[in-house]
Amino acid sequence: MKIGIIGSGALGSNVARALAKKGFSATIANKSGPESLAALVAELGPTITAGTIEQAASADIVLVAVPWVALESLLGNLPAWNNRIVIDGTNPVLFIDPNSPDAKDPSNPLAAYGIKAIDLGNQYSSAVFRELVPDARVVKAFNHLDARVLSEPETTAGQRTLFYSGDDADAKTEVRKLLETTGFFAVDLGSLDVGGPLMQLPFGALAMTNFIKL
Ligand SMILES: NC(=O)c1ccc[n+]([C@@H]2O[C@H](COP(=O)([O-])OP(=O)(O)OC[C@H]3O[C@@H](n4cnc5c(N)ncnc54)[C@H](OP(=O)(O)O)[C@@H]3O)[C@@H](O)[C@H]2O)c1
Repeated sequence: MKIGIIGSGALGSNVARALAKKGFSATIANKSGPESLAALVAELGPTITAGTIEQAASADIVLVAVPWVALESLLGNLPAWNNRIVIDGTNPVLFIDPNSPDAKDPSNPLAAYGIKAIDLGNQYSSAVFRELVPDARVVKAFNHLDARVLSEPETTAGQRTLFYSGDDADAKTEVRKLLETTGFFAVDLGSLDVGGPLMQLPFGALAMTNFIKL
């Protein structure tokens, strides 16, 4: 199974760190291009290579780890998915410039965390994501914790629990295998309609729930 990661920031780089620890091969890409990833791939070792967005997007399993506001333009410009697996690692939040007035907006309960919720009306975010990749099998995963902990699936206390959800049983089995082989304790939250809203940041009931399996 080839793995692609689009986005090399907090989420993409820390998932890549977890994969690298177990010797997984993956291609990581970002907006700035492969050259900008030289330091990261040097740190990660020989199994993780820097590629273009198109190269990362051509893998069997592709993790999308870009800001919510970048999704439409990114996903609208990629070749057909042909039923491949796309992992939605995103959340519908806006990153706030710490020097902007938004950073001190008293009506935003998340301002102290540097984020603002994006209003999607009555939809949950993976339903919107799913519409952007109609010919892919979407599994939501890697999105519900602070990305910094994801580089450490196995802690001294036990395995870190990661939730996942999706509508295609085979796609979920593949993602479960990936999570388990990487060292996480994987918990299936059911279909996207059920699991998506539960694990979505900022207000999902299971968002930021950092369980350790003893
Ligand atoms: N940070 C967390 O703790 C966390 C946890 C769970 C989920 N998430 C979710 O993960 C996603 C990414 O968050 P992050 O914190 O990793 O953000 P980040 O650190 O700002 O990194 C964003 C990455 O996306 C890339 N990117 C932006 N626009 C792009 C485009 N049009 N095409 C290709 N790549 C593009 C950027 O490329 P450049 O490097 O070239 O700028 C960068 O590598 C968000 O949806 C966020 O809600 C974040």
